[in-house]
This record gives sequence, C-alpha cells and structure tokens, in this order.
Amino acid sequence: MILNQVESLASKAFDELVKVKDVNELDAWRIRYLGRKSTLTQILRTLSTLPLEERRVVGARANELRRALETAFSEKKIELEQSLALLLEQKPLDITLPGQRVILGRLHPTTQTLDEICEIFSNMGFQVVEGPEVEWEYYNFEALNMPAEHPARDMFATLWVDLDTQAGGRAMLLRTHTSPVQIRIMEKLRPPIRVIAPGRVFRYEATDATHEWMFYQVEGLAVDTNISMADLKGTLFEFARRLFGKERKCRFRCDYFPFVEPGVEVAIDCSMCQGSGCRLCGNSGWIEILGAGMVHPEVLRRVDIDPEIYSGFAFGMGVERIPILRYGIDDIRLFYGNDLRFLRQF
Ligand code: DAH
Repeated sequence: MILNQVESLASKAFDELVKVKDVNELDAWRIRYLGRKSTLTQILRTLSTLPLEERRVVGARANELRRALETAFSEKKIELEQSLALLLEQKPLDITLPGQRVILGRLHPTTQTLDEICEIFSNMGFQVVEGPEVEWEYYNFEALNMPAEHPARDMFATLWVDLDTQAGGRAMLLRTHTSPVQIRIMEKLRPPIRVIAPGRVFRYEATDATHEWMFYQVEGLAVDTNISMADLKGTLFEFARRLFGKERKCRFRCDYFPFVEPGVEVAIDCSMCQGSGCRLCGNSGWIEILGAGMVHPEVLRRVDIDPEIYSGFAFGMGVERIPILRYGIDDIRLFYGNDLRFLRQF
C-alpha cells in the first residue's frame, strides 16, 4: 500500500520536474516533493509505526527516492543556470546600463494657481461652479447692467460668434469675463449663495507682453440677508493673506463696474519693493489684483432676488497675474506659447 504510494509519488515528481522552466518553479517543486510537509517526508517520518518487514522495504525505497529526487533537483538547477548563462552569451545584455527614465508631467502654472485659489475659497465655504465659454450677449452684458450702447462695453473688446442683429441679447459671443456665471447661478439657486466660478475668458485684442486674447479669471459671488461691504472686505483680505502671505498689505479703492455699486479695486503692496515703488508695480508700490463690489440692486432684480431683502458681493480676478507677480514673469504670452522650457520651471 505505502509502497504503491511511494512509486506513484516518484513518477509524478519526475514528470513534473521535466516541465519546470525556471528557478522559481524549481524551488516550488523542491518544497512540494522534498520539503518538510511533503508526502515523502511524512512517509519517512512514520516508518517506525510500520511492521518490521514493511518498514524495511518501504524505508529502503523511500530513502532511495529521496536521494534520486535530490540529485535530480541539483542537476536541474545546474541546467537552468547554464541555460540562462547561454542565453546571455547569445544575446548580450548589459546589466550595467541605466534604466529608462520615467518623465514626470507637471501641472501648468495656471492650473496650479487655479487649484490654490479654489482651495482657499472652498475652505471659506464657497462652492466651485462653472459656466459656458460661449455665451449669450444677454448674460455677458445685458443682465449685468450693460445694455446695448452702454459705454462700459468698450472695456470688453468682444469676440462675437454670431452677430444676430435682432435686439434682446440674442447674439452669441465668447465671454469676455466670468461675471455672466453670476447671473446663471442666481437664476438657478436662491440665497444663501456662495460660489466661485473659475474659467477661460476671451478678448478681441492684439497680443503683446501684457495682453492675451485668452486668459483665466475666477469670479466670486455671495448673496444672503445682511451681506455688507465688511463681508466683502473681510473675505478678500483673508484671501489675499492666505495666497500672498500674512505680511502683505491690502488696499481698497473706488472703481466702477456697471454690475456693482459701490465698486472697488483691490490691490496688494508690491512684494518686490515692499511698497516703495519699482518696475513691477509701475512705481506706485501697489499691484491691482481684482475688481469687486456690492451686487447692483438692478442685477438682483433681474434674477428675481428682492434687493430689499437680500444683498451680495461679487469679485473677479485675473489668474495669470498671480504667477506673473510671484515669479516676475515679464510676458503673458509665455503661458500659452507651449514652450516646454518655460513650463518645466514650475
Ligand atoms: N468682470 C470684471 C472684469 O473682467 C471684473 C469684476 C469686477 C468682476 C467687479 C466682479 C466685480 O464680479 O464685482 O474686468
């Protein structure tokens, strides 16, 4: 009985050894047939429990098999090692060659800045939303208190997509700012509203070191009961501190935008000259970073939010300006010129 078991074990082990193709498989084979938990080892261990005659026959055969398997194992090992050496001889492989470098991509400086801005405002409870880049004249101008013929439209050199001559804001354009997202959000949501809207904007402009026909803005909007200029100031001061550092000073000055009243321009003190005046800040000591204001009652009325109950603040900033200031980049065209030598620096 046990002798039969030893014989079938022998034929199985040798059959499998022929199929072994590499050292790992060989090791597994050794554990399977010669290891401590292998059937052969078990048999050898229990020999003493067998009747004397059987013990002698089985013991002899089992020990013989073990030696045979051990020899076969060593031979196979040499064979495998030699075939590897042979392979290397036939097809030389220089194992000292350095591996191929994995080239890591990186985020565009604009994307990095957008992420940073979104993170700061998200932490202050603002929701990030988006609006379309191709926009109706209505949202880009009309609903923002800039009817046709309004002189403020001159501030926005517009790329028209479809100049429909019919009145009523039905012409299509590439949005000149992210402010139209304010209207789209107020049409959809009721106060309390706290959103920021990052995205591309377009201007019909000849490009030079300070002008691009496409750039990024981030719009902000908060509407609720009892929102005041103090909330606007507090929010934007805090934003400037988190983005530019605690030591930066912030300045608010009156400005005009048709969709806010009052409107302000926010500047930080120049980080290059600490406010004493230099080339970067045009000798003023201050660098304008965004426009803002209290949402004009007329704008609220248009989206059916009662300005007697609710008020809000809004702001809009250019995104490229931030890395331009931080790194002293002197030409905005570098951002979208796709020159890797520029982009790899960030
Ligand atoms: N949309 C303006 C621009 O592109 C920036 C701006 C100014 C946005 C004042 C605002 C704001 O939301 O309140 O120049």
